[in-house]
Amino acid sequence: MIKYLGSKRTLIPVLEQLAVASEAKTALDLFTGTTRVAQCFKKLGLFVTAVDTASYSLAFAKTWIEFDGGVGQLQLEAAIDDLNKTTPEAGYFTQEFCVNARYFQPENGEFIDAVRNRIETEFKNSWMYFPLLTALILAADRVDSTTGIQMAFLKSWASRSFNRMQLRDPKLLAGGGKAIQADAVSLVSGLAPVDLAYLDPPYNQHRYFTNYHIWETLVRWDAPESYGIARKRIDSRETQTKSPFNSRKAMPEALEKLVRDVNAETLILSYNNESWLSRDDLIDICRVKGSVELIEFDFKRYIGSQIGIYNKAGQRVGNPGQKRNLELMVIAGDPKRVAKMKLVGKHQS
Ligand SMILES: C[S@@+](CC[C@H](N)C(=O)[O-])C[C@H]1O[C@@H](n2cnc3c(N)ncnc32)[C@H](O)[C@@H]1O
Repeated sequence: MIKYLGSKRTLIPVLEQLAVASEAKTALDLFTGTTRVAQCFKKLGLFVTAVDTASYSLAFAKTWIEFDGGVGQLQLEAAIDDLNKTTPEAGYFTQEFCVNARYFQPENGEFIDAVRNRIETEFKNSWMYFPLLTALILAADRVDSTTGIQMAFLKSWASRSFNRMQLRDPKLLAGGGKAIQADAVSLVSGLAPVDLAYLDPPYNQHRYFTNYHIWETLVRWDAPESYGIARKRIDSRETQTKSPFNSRKAMPEALEKLVRDVNAETLILSYNNESWLSRDDLIDICRVKGSVELIEFDFKRYIGSQIGIYNKAGQRVGNPGQKRNLELMVIAGDPKRVAKMKLVGKHQS
């Protein structure tokens, strides 16, 4: 799985128990990101709908959530073996992200350019299109030279960047689901009712569109004009690429609307003690769903905040922050189910 800010990797065991306690058969993961949580629900046998605005999240959700694994696995492995034999050839990706910036070693950039072109020309109309894009992103992430966000690259090459890239089978999961690329707030009232909804919105001003602009471009393959040391996409400046959840002013109303409109028997809202809203605000927002409980977990902070972030000239452009953060989960809905789910929190503390 890729390095991703706010990824809920460490919360998966808890979320798994919460989903079991909720007795859900259908679930909605409204800010699916890496799809880790949606995958966890799918593995439990739930039919999951995974939503995110990011193009790379759509690729992940098509791969791991929408496709029923097992079908065509051999065909996918053969396509990956063949793509791994591709002759590298420099193009847009190499120029922008290996020459103008230093996110990847040029040899890997040339491989990415050539493989990505082949995926577009040979697989555009194939069911393997998204699984192959996912395999390419995962392979690139294993050899990048960043702390895990694409606003800056490391002063000296990361040792993993010297490895030569190879695509691996992303291992599809058995079961059913749906992948949707959309703004959660506008979409949610039009979705079918679900048993369990999981909400994990961004909780500060840091935008995923700019933090992961390289994955966005790799999936869109639209060679955008870019700017600055980080070579961000020019459309980062446009309103339609901005999320209300990155705005202190817009976020409370967006969250309130989302919670009100989501048609789910039980809801889990992940939040963080560094967010703009207090615990009481979160609880108040969730009251419209019925009974409300809050559980908290103490986790080590995202690594980028511990080691600091450096620009091309080797200057520190981000400082290490506090080393611990609290993950909060608000559970809301039918009182009996919420009471059962709350017991999961008790066993964790
Ligand atoms: C905290 S991350 C979710 C991480 C995810 N739970 C995981 O474990 O990988 C927040 C996600 O919200 C997405 N996002 C931001 N604004 C959104 C919006 N208005 N609608 C849907 N998704 C949005 C971002 O692209 C990002 O993937």
